[in-house]
Amino acid sequence: MSVKKVGIAGLGFYVPEKVVTNHDLEKMVETTDEWIRTRTGIHERRIAEKGTGTSALAAKAAVQAIGNAHLKPEDIELIIAGTTTPDMPLPSCACFIQQKIGAKNAAAFDLGAACAGFVYALAAGEQFIKGGMYKNVLVIGADLISSYIDWTDRSTCVLFGDGAGAAVLTETKSGGILSSVLGSDGKYAELLKIGAGGSKSPATNETVNAKDHCLKMSGGEVFKLAVRGMSDAVKKCCEMAGVRLEDIKCFIPHQANQRIIDAVGERLGLPAEKVFVNLQKYGNTSAASCAIGLYEAVEQGRIKRGDKICLATFGSGLVWGAMVIEW
Ligand code: UT7
Repeated sequence: MSVKKVGIAGLGFYVPEKVVTNHDLEKMVETTDEWIRTRTGIHERRIAEKGTGTSALAAKAAVQAIGNAHLKPEDIELIIAGTTTPDMPLPSCACFIQQKIGAKNAAAFDLGAACAGFVYALAAGEQFIKGGMYKNVLVIGADLISSYIDWTDRSTCVLFGDGAGAAVLTETKSGGILSSVLGSDGKYAELLKIGAGGSKSPATNETVNAKDHCLKMSGGEVFKLAVRGMSDAVKKCCEMAGVRLEDIKCFIPHQANQRIIDAVGERLGLPAEKVFVNLQKYGNTSAASCAIGLYEAVEQGRIKRGDKICLATFGSGLVWGAMVIEW
């Protein structure tokens, strides 16, 4: 029996309308546009209005992806929402997405892999199709990190933005996902976390006052591990796919910091014109990052049918993932 090939039939993305520039942040914390641009590459980011949940962003991306796949919401059999910022702890974000888009025939669950959520969710969705359980799987990468930002902490508040990306996976005759590498090292779990609000430390006046519900990160350490983690994952993934690094037409790395992207590109020997960057507009949108990048790279004509492309992500866990796709 031949193994099924799984490919992306449609893509979508959504970012909130509200733009917050580096100059806006200069008025909130002790920072400068110059510092943010030179240390991160970010110029502005999109921030959702208060009261918006991740599912609202994800649903807009999902509707577009389903339309682009020439399907109807009822055709979707499974929704995997790669997110660590669900609307609420219970029920899952995927169920709210289902409710909003009317995908009434789908099973739905969340997949928590932080910034690597989209690649993890693509890899999981691929397996459901390969295994024969489903034909049409909606995969989401979405996060509304701004809800967890301490807007007085300059070391984190300048880095992140809100957004969502979506892909519909279906069986394909040729190309599709060639290989995936997923990894995790829980030894580094404390380096990037939202420390309260879970079962170990539910909300109390003390946790709120201590800002334990906000994201905290040891930026320098994460930086080094991100460069190594993504580079190694991409090399392994290309090897597994039988694709040489020089044959990758477009590389879409997690958009956390221009200096991380440059360092990974250099390690892999990929010229800058093959490396897709949009973090100047959106900052780090966590699980949405690679999904939005993929959408825009296709829209800008940087990916053509038959091209070999590579996604690479990295995030809290620490987790990482890479995927080689023939478009
Ligand atoms: O998506 C998950 C993965 N996340 C990441 O990949 C993020 C990885 N880390 C990074 O991108 C970088 O480490 C940062 C952008 C967070 C920080 O850059 P850095 O070059 O590692 O700077 P640093 O933390 O070593 O700080 C250098 C200086 C410090 O001042 P002193 O101690 O040298 O006086 C910071 O206090 O820059 C200061 N600083 C700032 N200054 C102005 C930190 N944030 C700011 C700021 N504006 N926003």
